[in-house]
Amino acid sequence: MTVSEGLRDIVVTSTEICSIDGSKGELIYRGYDIHDLAQNVTFEETVYLLWHGKLPTKAQVDDLDKKLKAERNIPKQVIDLIRSMDKHEHPMSMLRTAISYLSSFDPDSNNSEPEARVRKSIRLTAKMATVVAAICRIREGKELVAPDNSLSHAGNFLYMIQGKKPDADSTLTMDVALTLHAEHDMNASTFTGRVIAATLSDVYSAVVGAIGALKGPLHGGANTAVMEMLLEIGDLDKVESYVAAAMAKKQKIMGMGHAVYKTYDPRAVELIKLSRKMGERVKNTKWLEMSEKVQDIVHKQKGLYPNVDFYSASTYYTMGIQPDMFTPIFAVSRISGWTAHIIEQLSHNKLIRPSTEYTGPRGLKVVPLAQRG
Ligand SMILES: CC(C)(COP(=O)(O)OP(=O)(O)OC[C@H]1O[C@@H](n2cnc3c(N)ncnc32)[C@H](O)[C@@H]1OP(=O)(O)O)[C@@H](O)C(=O)NCCC(=O)NCCS
Repeated sequence: MTVSEGLRDIVVTSTEICSIDGSKGELIYRGYDIHDLAQNVTFEETVYLLWHGKLPTKAQVDDLDKKLKAERNIPKQVIDLIRSMDKHEHPMSMLRTAISYLSSFDPDSNNSEPEARVRKSIRLTAKMATVVAAICRIREGKELVAPDNSLSHAGNFLYMIQGKKPDADSTLTMDVALTLHAEHDMNASTFTGRVIAATLSDVYSAVVGAIGALKGPLHGGANTAVMEMLLEIGDLDKVESYVAAAMAKKQKIMGMGHAVYKTYDPRAVELIKLSRKMGERVKNTKWLEMSEKVQDIVHKQKGLYPNVDFYSASTYYTMGIQPDMFTPIFAVSRISGWTAHIIEQLSHNKLIRPSTEYTGPRGLKVVPLAQRG
């Protein structure tokens, strides 16, 4: 029996959704290279592509856009639930709880027909943005902002978190960031979602589980951790000593390294451009420059490359978004990939049940409780 810790290099299923070549730094959604998608399609088109396997026509994306917009509102009870939570609760935990509750307002929550899965995917994708925006505003003690259907998914999301209509550059940056984070093959949260879906549980349970997995700093939580690190360092000329001290303590530098990519993560290639564009716009490239310096040192010393979370941190922060909202933003995008995988899993389902190598004792005999020392 060969044990593969972390299931590395174990092929658990076949998929038509996404392909990664970790040695070439290549990421493909449904046959399209991520650089091509990032530069040429909207998040709505990406969502359609992930769910339906091909890029939409104008009529098809307009139809999806209409359906997403019709589902943007969230029930008052969900807002009240978020308001009732402790303000110190982690926003990803708030999101997990709110999305779980949302299920009781979905007329299809217990409908397992294929068409119902698509309807739930639309609802979840539309409402995830509104729930995240509500969490953001409530934690900041601000009034909620109702969705504006004249805006795209990315534009409306920024509007709901920031309370003012975003300019074209910010909307485009968020739109590209959403496309870049939408899908990533059998990452930890998607795998979690597929495992839950494979038990023939329901779509909401699968998504709630996926949110829980995404929260962790070794996965989606890394983007928040990167910004916390940059804020802790504070200044470009303190980067070297900070990284040296972290390395000496064998501390991981968040946003660096990847389980699959052994070269530059292609999403980081796109995000560094967004980070630079945003920085130059607001005449503050400090966070980008610090990130680049951290990257250079860690690459020289450990041969590691930045992943998706490394430059999304400086991009979002420069856009005025608070660091602890970065991981929920990841969920606003990744819900599209999660649901694509849940739909695919259920189209040829097999219960996911790996094995273990047992290394504990055998043959022990129970000693009566009173006699155990
Ligand atoms: C993503 C990650 C979990 C993948 O790791 P992996 O391929 O399973 O590799 P491991 O965690 O087992 O690490 C292998 C070695 O590289 C080192 N390493 C990996 N990532 C590192 C990092 N970010 N900083 C410093 N050292 C790192 C480990 O300490 C380990 O060193 P060792 O062999 O001397 O003990 C890991 O790179 C990491 O924790 N990165 C930081 C978190 C992060 O950014 N997550 C988001 C991923 S998209």
